[in-house]
Amino acid sequence: MSRILRVSARVLPLFLLLLALMAATLPTPGHAADQKAPKEGVLLVAFGTSVPEALSSFKAVDASFKAAFPGTPVVWSYTSQIIRKKLAEQGKPVGGISDGLAALAEAGVKVARVQSLHVMPGEEFTELERAVLLDIQKHPGRFEAVYLGRPLLESHKDALSVAKAVLADMGGKRRKDEAVVLMGHGQAHGRADLIFEGTRATFRESDPLVFMATVEGARGIDDLPAELKAHKVRKVWLQPLMVVAGDHARNDLAGDGEDSWASKLRAAGFKVETNLRGLGEVPGVRDIFVDHARQNVDDLTKEPRKR
Ligand code: CO
Repeated sequence: MSRILRVSARVLPLFLLLLALMAATLPTPGHAADQKAPKEGVLLVAFGTSVPEALSSFKAVDASFKAAFPGTPVVWSYTSQIIRKKLAEQGKPVGGISDGLAALAEAGVKVARVQSLHVMPGEEFTELERAVLLDIQKHPGRFEAVYLGRPLLESHKDALSVAKAVLADMGGKRRKDEAVVLMGHGQAHGRADLIFEGTRATFRESDPLVFMATVEGARGIDDLPAELKAHKVRKVWLQPLMVVAGDHARNDLAGDGEDSWASKLRAAGFKVETNLRGLGEVPGVRDIFVDHARQNVDDLTKEPRKR
């Protein structure tokens, strides 16, 4: 008996080694190309929100990306330090850009798709690009490729698609002679005002009763009443042109305070309705973000390729 045990003890490691070799060479189900393809991962980057009601927008975006990239890790980063701090204190932490890239690396991802959830390629998108580049420098070779997906409104085609999606999403709520007023975020400095003006012109092509202004950009709420009156508008629908219907939408746009857009427009004699849907809640908008994540030409680990 003891002799058999001694023999099997000597043979067992050999037998296990043989099994391991067989498993390694055994063909596994699925396409050969899939087996060799490096593991992909998605990092979604947004400013962030601490308004719980606004999260429905991010949840819808998350679901769209998980459906579009099945079996792929989808990680979130918020760029706002104030919001990250607030959420951490509430026990619901969301990391920054470096944290998100580290999480993808940890999950064995070799090809990272970083998707901006910004509305326009303004200063915050530039900051995102810089943060990703610095992280690549700090961890050379960590990823085979890091693709950067462009923001929502990157081209004339995008602007037309977003206008169409937003107007379709209003469904039968709005009558034809009623105006839509969209609140963009905007920025007091940088290029955003010019991108905003291009977007405004493109939206107007889709529907002459779409009006737009910003919270912080050159064109604000005080430009709207005269413009609306010139178009003989009596009733307006207010909606944010932001991915989430967060603090700006709930307070600056639709709030009860006398400085809100709703209050100012009512004071100017307009009938006002609010449609507090973030852009992420609009299916056609989510499709554009997913398309931008798939258009994988801009690999930040390599020099730009000139055509
Ligand atoms: Co803001």
